[in-house]
Amino acid sequence: MRLFFFLMCIIIGPSSVTAAGVGKFVIIAHRGASGQAPEHTMAAYQLALDQGADYLELDIHMTKDKQLIAIHDDTVDRTTNGQGKVNSLTLSEIKQLDAGSRFNQNFPDKAKPYYRGQTILTLEEVIGKFGGSVNYYIELKKTQQYSEMADKLLRFLNAHQLIGTLGVHGQVIIESFHEDTLKYLRNKSSELILVQLTDNPWNIDLAKIASYADGVGPNYTKINQKFIETAHQHGLLVHCWTVNNETDMIKLINWNVDGIFTNYVDRARIIGTVFPFHFQ
Ligand code: G3P
Ligand code: CA
Repeated sequence: MRLFFFLMCIIIGPSSVTAAGVGKFVIIAHRGASGQAPEHTMAAYQLALDQGADYLELDIHMTKDKQLIAIHDDTVDRTTNGQGKVNSLTLSEIKQLDAGSRFNQNFPDKAKPYYRGQTILTLEEVIGKFGGSVNYYIELKKTQQYSEMADKLLRFLNAHQLIGTLGVHGQVIIESFHEDTLKYLRNKSSELILVQLTDNPWNIDLAKIASYADGVGPNYTKINQKFIETAHQHGLLVHCWTVNNETDMIKLINWNVDGIFTNYVDRARIIGTVFPFHFQ
């Protein structure tokens, strides 16, 4: 495997261009190490950190009783043994659910006994476990359903000293597909690091995005090197989702991408061994 990547490195060659305003290439654990463990569970987050993730990604929804929880869908149907919309269930009801057994059933080759009984996590539980020693990449989902979610998140992050005067700049990045939400957050604070997600990278106005966000998060299958160069010219970071195979990782790194969301942090770390310039 290493020989393959070494040869790829020679064939493609590392880029010598430095991305605008970027410290280092970052690996964002998409829903945790979700290629190998049930997404958004403690097992997935711990594995991602063990594999060397730079950021843990949390998709955030709100329960019926207004608690922030880490889950991708707006229902619990796909990932748990329960059913129903997140915003129609209380946290107490949601904490009864098994968020790991379905993964074991769907992926028997990756199943582990301790995945059974993993639970959906509150943001409080994730931060309570990993605290200030970890970086968080937080997506505000379906904000049209949750009018108070952005404010609640800001209060929470401030209270835990992850943003604001006591926070470390860059420890938290907030992402969303919802432009209005990001603009709202920008008006609240010029210090927040905000990333505009998009599934239509050629239909967005990068100059406009640069007026309220620090970066853009495109579907990587829909961009080319020119897109990244143009985003950099506007001073935007480019964090692509969701990059799971090594060939695509190498291609994007050579295009000078600033980070990738991946279900396989371990693969991205191996790529790092042959692209040391990008992993400083
Ligand atoms: O947040 C980046 C990427 O995760 C967006 O897609 O649907 O996996 O949240 P999704
Ligand atoms: Ca996401």
